[in-house]
Amino acid sequence: MKAIQIKQYGNADVLEITQIPEPTPSTDQLLIENKAIGINPFDWKLRNGLFQDLFPLEFPNILGFEIAGVVKQVPAHVKNIRVGDRVYGKADHAYAKFVSMDVSQAHHIPESMSFEQAAALPTNTQVAYNVLVTLGKLKKGQKVLIHAGAGGVGIAAIQIAKYLGADITTTVSPKKIEFVKSLGANHVIDYTNTSLDQIQERYDLILDSIGAKTQIESWELLKQQGLLVSLLGDESAHFSKSKFDRKFIFAVDVLENHSDEIHDLILGGHIQPIIDEVFEFHDMAKAHNKSEFGHVTGKIIVKI
Ligand SMILES: NC(=O)c1ccc[n+]([C@@H]2O[C@H](COP(=O)([O-])OP(=O)(O)OC[C@H]3O[C@@H](n4cnc5c(N)ncnc54)[C@H](OP(=O)(O)O)[C@@H]3O)[C@@H](O)[C@H]2O)c1
Repeated sequence: MKAIQIKQYGNADVLEITQIPEPTPSTDQLLIENKAIGINPFDWKLRNGLFQDLFPLEFPNILGFEIAGVVKQVPAHVKNIRVGDRVYGKADHAYAKFVSMDVSQAHHIPESMSFEQAAALPTNTQVAYNVLVTLGKLKKGQKVLIHAGAGGVGIAAIQIAKYLGADITTTVSPKKIEFVKSLGANHVIDYTNTSLDQIQERYDLILDSIGAKTQIESWELLKQQGLLVSLLGDESAHFSKSKFDRKFIFAVDVLENHSDEIHDLILGGHIQPIIDEVFEFHDMAKAHNKSEFGHVTGKIIVKI
């Protein structure tokens, strides 16, 4: 089968199309004929070696963590999924024509949804759900600040926060203000001309997917018992000492499996996929470079 491997850390040129044997699924896995792959910033961070201490790779390695495709093989004990079904979900080594997927991660793609749209959903929705619901316990009427509202995680977070009935503020660059309002943001901060220390509002929950200065300044925007969850780095040594009971969580891996709950939100129309661009399989390097550039609106997808 065709796959994309890396044999060393490096820039996008290390992504090589190759021919390798099909994977052999375990007794709790489906074999999927892959049709579309979701690209995450984590992919190019792994590729360029940024995480080699935390998550060292073995080479050759096939990157990628989320797919949509057609079921080719089902373990005998699984009754709700059949050969030929269209499914999506998280799966390791996703940059390949055939991929093994844990049965617990697989969900049927709604009829109205394409493979590309379905592949845009698994990771970002799970991250956003974990931050807002599992860690943040966000309630109706509470104030949430979602940084980078037009990015993959940000879009999913706005949609879930809207479903929960929260009062949503988000940060974006000026061209994306109307877009995030259309998703359900109640208040928008243009981060290119408003610094966070100008913000008077205080928040119950803040989702930081930017890190560094944004994370440090966000600490000051929490209510007395507010929670700051960051997906990027731990700057808490720089936080001001406070008499208040504010909390910080550095969520290195917030990918606890809530795919059943999230699938229900998708079926209910509360979460919808937003795609920035679809690339061909042989253009994986272009897809990585676009993600690495850092200014997407929605998800980058690669067709296979
Ligand atoms: N720890 C974990 O488990 C975990 C899980 C998922 C993601 N992450 C990390 O979280 C980050 C976001 O992921 P993603 O998939 O959402 O990325 P993404 O889809 O590439 O989105 C990046 C977004 O950031 C916006 N942005 C850039 N600088 C900004 C700033 N200073 N203030 C506000 N927005 C800004 C960009 O929009 P503009 O064009 O408006 O700048 C863009 O929409 C990545 O670094 C990723 O690695 C971590």
